[in-house]
Amino acid sequence: MSILKHETTQGSSVKVDALVLGVAQAESGPELLAAGHLQSKYAEQLQSALADLGMTGAHGTVTRIPSLGAVQANSIVLVGLGEIDEDAIDLEKLRQAAGSAARSLTGLGSVAFGLPIHSEEQLAAVAEGAAMGTYTFTEYKSGDEKVGPDTVVLLVSKAAAKGMDAQGVLSRAAIIAKHVMLARDLVNTPPNVLSPAEFADRAAAAAKGISGVKVEVWDESRLAKEGCGGILGVGQGSSRPPCLVKVSYSPRGANSHVAIVGKGITFDTGGISLKPAMSMVTMKCDMGGAAAVLGSVLAAAEAGVKTRVTGWLAIAENMPSHTAMRPSDVITIRGGKTVEVLNTDAEGRLVMADALALASEEQPDIVLDIATLTGAQMVAFGRRVAAVMGDLDVVNEVLAGAAATGESFWPMPLPEELAAELKSPVADLKNIGSPNGGGMLLAGVFLQNFVGETPWAHLDIAGPAFNEGKPYGYVTAGGTGMGVRTLLGVVEHRAKA
Ligand code: BES
Ligand code: ZN
Ligand code: ZN
Repeated sequence: MSILKHETTQGSSVKVDALVLGVAQAESGPELLAAGHLQSKYAEQLQSALADLGMTGAHGTVTRIPSLGAVQANSIVLVGLGEIDEDAIDLEKLRQAAGSAARSLTGLGSVAFGLPIHSEEQLAAVAEGAAMGTYTFTEYKSGDEKVGPDTVVLLVSKAAAKGMDAQGVLSRAAIIAKHVMLARDLVNTPPNVLSPAEFADRAAAAAKGISGVKVEVWDESRLAKEGCGGILGVGQGSSRPPCLVKVSYSPRGANSHVAIVGKGITFDTGGISLKPAMSMVTMKCDMGGAAAVLGSVLAAAEAGVKTRVTGWLAIAENMPSHTAMRPSDVITIRGGKTVEVLNTDAEGRLVMADALALASEEQPDIVLDIATLTGAQMVAFGRRVAAVMGDLDVVNEVLAGAAATGESFWPMPLPEELAAELKSPVADLKNIGSPNGGGMLLAGVFLQNFVGETPWAHLDIAGPAFNEGKPYGYVTAGGTGMGVRTLLGVVEHRAKA
């Protein structure tokens, strides 16, 4: 990951490979926002050349030009900020624009951002967007792949820097980016490599050296002893056994305890209820929830947030084989409830059920769960918006955490009448309903059976966990790290409350 720094020098004198400047989309045309970063004569010349360069200032558009000695940097990167009011810039728009610029900077050594930064919030947005946008995943490329710049300098005017804790803002941004990237790396790692055991090993490795964090791994025999029939049932068809990873962060002086449960299906073939080939190609993303849990707990720990956080990663590989679950098998979830498994592709709710039961037993103040749970989430919300449902107060905490950190979550209901859909003639529950639509809600209603009295919210990130299309803003192709920032936001808010 690139190093984030801040400087109060002006853009014209900073010695970097590229200087990023913003262009607003004003009514009168593109408007260069170079505020003090360029000598006024050059700023005027560049302003009058913007239209010829094809710059409109449209949000996220990027144009790179040689500086021809007008500034110390070799090139100037102009990024469109859209129709903005410089005094009230939408932080997420700023974050995304910084990300778009950052994505164009791979292959460079050092870059500086001279975007409008008047407050700590704006500095944070630019730093986060820039850092997340520099992400590349080149692990499995044998050529000389270009990677992100190693140094990112955020330019802050002397006036704006006064009274700002710029260092504090940047270290939080770096922690956020690092753990979003951890989640992206885990999702992007191919499933032949990222077995359940490998996922657990990487979780332990990532936690190493972060003070206050403890990682515990439950293997198959421990899971059997603890009555976790959901995780064991889903994992039994794979030659690579399932596991549960508990990541505990217990800071001194915490007065709130948040439990977070994540779906960690390292690959979802559907099992005996096999998926069609086209639906299977992105299913390495099915551990995106667990990756987000790991990222958020470690980010909270590294940032020293004063909230106790317990992450539960329910990890298994869903494979068809002669040892796999059959549709109509009955399994017993932690706590004793039985489930008739009528579709082995509705496996996420089974591993989540065990982990939710375990998480609730510790009586945390709230329990959150996050999962790439249903195709229905994607049908309803598309690829960029995630869903949240559950107890209203907790849902509102999640929405606040999402708004504060720039992720897009939207509330959905858990209609009571759907419970009837999950009645089984042979067990306490069945894992699918009749095809009456509302598949995302039904999955949430299923999970509700395992949280007991603990205030709870369920986050379905099936669409936004993985970017199958073109990169945009700070969202690169493949794993997105969706959820890390929202979960951190909730945990941070609880520390302040
Ligand atoms: N992992 C999938 C959900 C999914 C779909 C995530 C697309 C990301 C992108 C989940 O395990 C699944 O297959 N769910 C089924 C449930 C159904 C059988 C009730 C689904 O949504 O089709
Ligand atoms: Zn499935
Ligand atoms: Zn799945």
